Amino acid sequence: MSLEPLISLSQLPDVGAVPVDVDGRAIAVVRAEDGSIHVIDDTCSHAEVSLAEGEVEDCSIECWLHGSRFDLRTGRPTGLPATKPIAVYPVTVEGDTVLADLSAPRTAPFSASPAVSSKEH
Ligand code: FES
Repeated sequence: MSLEPLISLSQLPDVGAVPVDVDGRAIAVVRAEDGSIHVIDDTCSHAEVSLAEGEVEDCSIECWLHGSRFDLRTGRPTGLPATKPIAVYPVTVEGDTVLADLSAPRTAPFSASPAVSSKEH
């Protein structure tokens, strides 16, 4: 396990996301309404746009372009048009620093129990 320091808690909004560039990788650190901290890939699985600009609600983040939401705990989309999950990473908070293991993405196996229909509209 290789923990990377990403951001300090004081740099995060009360509810929302901040994009972080880690050696060219687009990562987003997100604080949900319940105070939980999540680290996700900052690229929508439907098209290559940043998710960090989207609204955070009910432990999910909304893609600003077409409105799919992704569960911050599993990475699964909860609505179309996105059908593929995004990667989420194990998070640790030490003092004021948010760290994540970016070598160990937890991407939900989409075929096991898809949150949305796999049919494209
Ligand atoms: S680009 Fe995100 S839902 Fe289409």
